[in-house]
Amino acid sequence: MGVGGSQHATAIRDVAAGDIPQIAAIHRAELPDDLCALLGQKFLERIFYPELLRNSDAALCADDGAGVVGFVFFSSNEQFLRNLVMRYSHRILWYGLPNLRKPWFWRYAVEAVMLLAVKDDRLRGSELVYIAVSRARQHAGIGSSLTRVGLAELRQRGIGRCWVKTLASTPLNVEFYEKLGFRQFKSHLGRVYLSLDVATVSDSR
Ligand SMILES: CC(C)(COP(=O)(O)OP(=O)(O)OC[C@H]1O[C@@H](n2cnc3c(N)ncnc32)[C@H](O)[C@@H]1OP(=O)(O)O)[C@@H](O)C(=O)NCCC(=O)NCCS
Repeated sequence: MGVGGSQHATAIRDVAAGDIPQIAAIHRAELPDDLCALLGQKFLERIFYPELLRNSDAALCADDGAGVVGFVFFSSNEQFLRNLVMRYSHRILWYGLPNLRKPWFWRYAVEAVMLLAVKDDRLRGSELVYIAVSRARQHAGIGSSLTRVGLAELRQRGIGRCWVKTLASTPLNVEFYEKLGFRQFKSHLGRVYLSLDVATVSDSR
């Protein structure tokens, strides 16, 4: 599938292990305040994304021939983050070491733990865990294409519902998901939660 309005066709394809360094770099550039990004490139590259890839229902990237310019990961493993923290706590502490004296790091860490503790029956199905598109390639339809192709894959896998949480302080992100058919169902800890009935999605790969 070609998307993205550049001179080279941008194809949506499955993520391979070799794409992870580029994905980690886009994550850090486009989500700089995210706790995982604050743990650094090595954490994302060696621990977070290999584990997320193993636990994903769909993992897609946009490739313009010169490299990865965007990605999206969906996972229905509710225990994924909790297991990752338990399994790699020492290494997470190690990667977090340079930030331990920064008060905002602790604020993000406490917030992350509180978000992990949220119990809600509506948080079922597959979570859109992370999506990002390289700055220079945003607003050309790449994020929407990645999400639509991912949702079509969830539907083919028989997954009925997809949900996502995003910062309430980023109304354009909320708008992005609403344009794709997601609807808001909850606000908590400065996050807006949105979900979508995957059966309404058409095939688009
Ligand atoms: C959100 C994101 C993935 C969207 O990807 P994209 O390829 O730019 O999305 P599309 O071109 O398919 O759709 C763009 C639409 O999303 C909305 N949008 C999302 N972020 C926006 C932003 N920063 N500025 C303007 N519009 C934005 C607008 O409605 C926009 O419509 P428009 O282009 O007609 O104005 C991308 O902006 C991004 O990587 N942002 C940084 C990382 C991030 O915030 N990820 C989401 C975390 S929940």
